[in-house]
Amino acid sequence: MHPATQRAVDLDARYAWPTYARKPVLFERGSGMRLYDAHGVEHLDFVAGIGVVNLGHAHPAVARAVQDQVSRLVQVSNLYHVEHRAELEERLCTLFGEPSRVFLCNSGTEAVEAAIKLARAWGRHTRGDGCYRIVAAERSFHGRTFGALSATGQAGKQQKFAPLLPGFTHVPLNDLDALADALADDVCAVLLEPVQGEGGVYPCEPEYLRAVRTLCDEREVLLVLDEVQTGLYRTGPLFAHRAYGITPDVMTLAKALANGLPAGAAVARAEVAEVLSPGDHGSTFAGGPVVCAAALATLDALDRERLGDNAERVGAHLRFRLMELADRTGAVTDVRGRGLMVGASLARPIAREVADAALKHRVLVNATGEDTLRFLPPLVCTESEVDTLVSVLEDILRGR
Ligand SMILES: Cc1ncc(COP(=O)(O)O)c(C=O)c1O
Repeated sequence: MHPATQRAVDLDARYAWPTYARKPVLFERGSGMRLYDAHGVEHLDFVAGIGVVNLGHAHPAVARAVQDQVSRLVQVSNLYHVEHRAELEERLCTLFGEPSRVFLCNSGTEAVEAAIKLARAWGRHTRGDGCYRIVAAERSFHGRTFGALSATGQAGKQQKFAPLLPGFTHVPLNDLDALADALADDVCAVLLEPVQGEGGVYPCEPEYLRAVRTLCDEREVLLVLDEVQTGLYRTGPLFAHRAYGITPDVMTLAKALANGLPAGAAVARAEVAEVLSPGDHGSTFAGGPVVCAAALATLDALDRERLGDNAERVGAHLRFRLMELADRTGAVTDVRGRGLMVGASLARPIAREVADAALKHRVLVNATGEDTLRFLPPLVCTESEVDTLVSVLEDILRGR
């Protein structure tokens, strides 16, 4: 092992909270789809910071925007105006496409917290104190802070931390009857990922999500879509909900928003957002000028480079090649996803072993469970890079 890597491994093992199972590799540099370790060895990145670096590593336009701003002004707080923030607010609301308002924050979990607080405030405003329940999906993932963790439909991530925040009901995804039954008078919102990410890449069926929209309208319940992972062209369209022909009342974004700098946002229909007043919510770092400059540069570049089209084309190729692999080896039993958000179930619970072996072949992939591999490459990924990934996976799966 390179001495720099060894030192990081040793120090981390001694000093960091033991909450991550980090791989023994240290990356020093990136470019597009590629990462370079301490030896300068090139790796193909099908993780992209867990669906974050949609433009690819070290994108020059984002680097320039950050460098420009970081040398002038970094932090002032939300007590005052700064450059780039209002432009980003306008841009996000315009992209959302309805009269809307946005709360900027620093991460996905914070965007979900904001959405939960808004949903409760709206429930109380429209129907009184008892209207606070949120219906979410089993197997969902919304983050690690208490509100978002309580919304998450995975007991394994919650057990050590009980009691959770009250007021969440979980129903199976794509089961409309179960959702309709759960919409009691105390429900203020339904919270769904258009494509579940962490839970193993399970898309909402189109008829289901459209029917959920109608049901929410009929029952006067907010539809909150968590697009932290699916947003910003990851699944092809700018927001995954566009492919379903619906618009949510509230949408969360984070991950790709500033191509790797910590940024999040909760966008809400204006009349919903307007139940809040100054002092109801806030965040010290949120909407700082560096991150906002990076986010604007990111949104420009994603659009200019037509990366949504590439995500659709190369994503279809990836799913096709994985299905061929399934036919040839029997080691893959299911391939799912939209755009460049792709999951593959393995016939045996060896996903973590496969991910470790792929790293030895200098390809980064992510295991989201015992038997599920997830692929979230930068949206600049090419078909030939997909072919390299699939041939590495084939070598590994045939050897096991
Ligand atoms: C759909 C979804 N929501 C929320 C989160 C939490 O985001 P963060 O890790 O930035 O807090 C994630 C993270 O994976 C996610 O996929």
